[in-house]
Amino acid sequence: MRALITGASGMLGRDMAKEFCRRGFEVVTLDRGGLDITDLACVNRAFKEHGPHLAVNCAGFTKVDRAESQRREAFLVNGLGPRNLALACGETGAALVQISTDYVFDGRLDRPYEVYDVPGPVNVYGASKLWGERAVLGLLRASYIIRTGWLFGLGGENFVSAMISLGREGKPVQVVDDQFGCPTFTEDLARAVSDLAQTGCYGIYHITNQNATTWFKFAGAIFDRSKLVVDLIPCRTRDTGRAASRPGFSVLDPFPLQETIGYLLPRWEDALWRYLSKKGELQA
Ligand SMILES: NC(=O)c1ccc[n+]([C@@H]2O[C@H](COP(=O)([O-])OP(=O)(O)OC[C@H]3O[C@@H](n4cnc5c(N)ncnc54)[C@H](OP(=O)(O)O)[C@@H]3O)[C@@H](O)[C@H]2O)c1
Repeated sequence: MRALITGASGMLGRDMAKEFCRRGFEVVTLDRGGLDITDLACVNRAFKEHGPHLAVNCAGFTKVDRAESQRREAFLVNGLGPRNLALACGETGAALVQISTDYVFDGRLDRPYEVYDVPGPVNVYGASKLWGERAVLGLLRASYIIRTGWLFGLGGENFVSAMISLGREGKPVQVVDDQFGCPTFTEDLARAVSDLAQTGCYGIYHITNQNATTWFKFAGAIFDRSKLVVDLIPCRTRDTGRAASRPGFSVLDPFPLQETIGYLLPRWEDALWRYLSKKGELQA
């Protein structure tokens, strides 16, 4: 089986490529220089050249605040890109995994979002990812839409690495305490995606590590585990002055992930421990 990974030099793309290699797939990794997913002609050429059985789209315009002012670019990469991949998959008989986000939801629900809940993005990033989902679902039956959130991985800068850098500066650190979600280790996500992609059970899935938390509590756990003594101060989203609104509650219900691949991802605390341990940041 040949898998083509787009956005392969990104944080998730790196772990996805490693995981599919580990599973014995022949893996073609393309970063933006190798394949710009917004260019349909290039996408078609890449599919003709490599003949993948499966494409895993890890490319994305991922700067949530910047998307507010770069709306067209966000919709190009997060909407038109997946559309192009779905068209090429349809032409060549390949299946597609599209990575989406918890930010397709408005965050106003008082229970975890289920796969059949109605999305309602509150920012441009979420709207562009939702358009990508719909383009894929409308064009390609053999597609998996994976909504996830709060990613951290060894292959890129993320909230955990940012907190460790800030913590080392010795200054007080303010973190929002009114957004709820599930931190997710890219290695765990890649494992579940590679299992799911072999089932043929196409559709929408919610895949995150288990156990909801806030960014503030997550930061506390990071400092605690890495034995950094930090003056950690909770704040509210509305006091941060960020360009993009954020859903206040974007916890995702994983049903029917366990029914499909046989397991759920571990809790984020366990994932954080493994991440810090691999980074050499875990202090006994
Ligand atoms: N990070 C999170 O917390 C989070 C949460 C939920 C969902 N997601 C989704 O997960 C996926 C992976 O995210 P990530 O955190 O791994 O992001 P990342 O590290 O920013 O990786 C995204 C990759 O996409 C590439 N890319 C951008 N535009 C492209 C284009 N036109 N053609 C091909 N490649 C392009 C980027 O290349 P350049 O570096 O050259 O721009 C980068 O390597 C994205 O779809 C994102 O929306 C992320």
